[in-house]
Amino acid sequence: MLPEQVVENLKQTARDASANSYSPYSNFPVGAAVLAESGRIYSGTNVENASYGLTICAERAAVAAAVSAGERSIAAIAIYTPTEEPSVPCGACLAVISEFADGIPILLFTEDKQRWYSLNQLLPERFKLKPKET
Ligand code: THU
Repeated sequence: MLPEQVVENLKQTARDASANSYSPYSNFPVGAAVLAESGRIYSGTNVENASYGLTICAERAAVAAAVSAGERSIAAIAIYTPTEEPSVPCGACLAVISEFADGIPILLFTEDKQRWYSLNQLLPERFKLKPKET
């Protein structure tokens, strides 16, 4: 169980990130906050592109921010959407999260609803490669 204050910080960070969403094509802002093993929190939002397929999801942006800061292990992630129901991350984002996490808690929330999942629930099986030794 994560401390209540940490959960609140994650939620606030994800909500704040969604306010920066660049989503003029879908009007579907998403905010994500990654809690790294270090205790630091990293945010991401979706960045759309006129060439739709180049769009970057909020979760992947948040993971990239964490990894860019030197993190290699993710302890939890919170994802905010201003929707009726919490929104489940796309499969690509789940795969990217799972590169740095094992069975972590995932909090999906809206303005007034929240649901906890585990990564194992949302992505029960995954593609893995053994990293090459350098
Ligand atoms: N999106 C995310 O940011 N995360 C997901 O897991 C699914 C979808 C974004 C991409 C696009 O900008 C908008 O939501 C609608 O698909």
